[in-house]
Amino acid sequence: MGGRNFGSLVPLTPEIVSRNLTPDKTGRPIGGRSFAEFVQIIRTGVDLDHLHPNCAASTASHPCFGPTQPFNGDLLQVMPWPIFQSFEEHDLKAIYEYLKAIPCIAGPETGVLHNDCT
Ligand code: HEM
Repeated sequence: MGGRNFGSLVPLTPEIVSRNLTPDKTGRPIGGRSFAEFVQIIRTGVDLDHLHPNCAASTASHPCFGPTQPFNGDLLQVMPWPIFQSFEEHDLKAIYEYLKAIPCIAGPETGVLHNDCT
């Protein structure tokens, strides 16, 4: 259900933590993402949850990458999407269907790892 903390890419930048990919109460995995959204995430690396944007695009309450950091905060870090992005659509479908078939795990009561099961 995610939650592995990979630490910061460089000091004083957001910690990179894997996400809770289990289905939510809608039955769709990755906390309710459609297959089209999943394909978009894997093909482009976009972080649709915007958890660690570059500072200019962030609100003060979000951790963010500073303007001098060489990271695109709109993209998933650590996650090996550049390897997965060339998967055939039917392989992505198989992964999506697997993630859809596992039970919802609520995770912590609050925070980004929380998933709404009911
Ligand atoms: C088939 C295998 C994998 C799938 C289907 C997968 C899928 C995903 C998806 C869909 C997200 C974005 C979640 C969201 O938008 O809510 C994500 C994020 C992430 N994944 Fe993966 N992942 C896989 C393998 C891995 C591996 C092998 C690693 C690390 C070694 C990894 C590390 C991460 C991390 C750290 C994030 C969050 C990145 C960030 O916050 O910038 N994933 N993964």
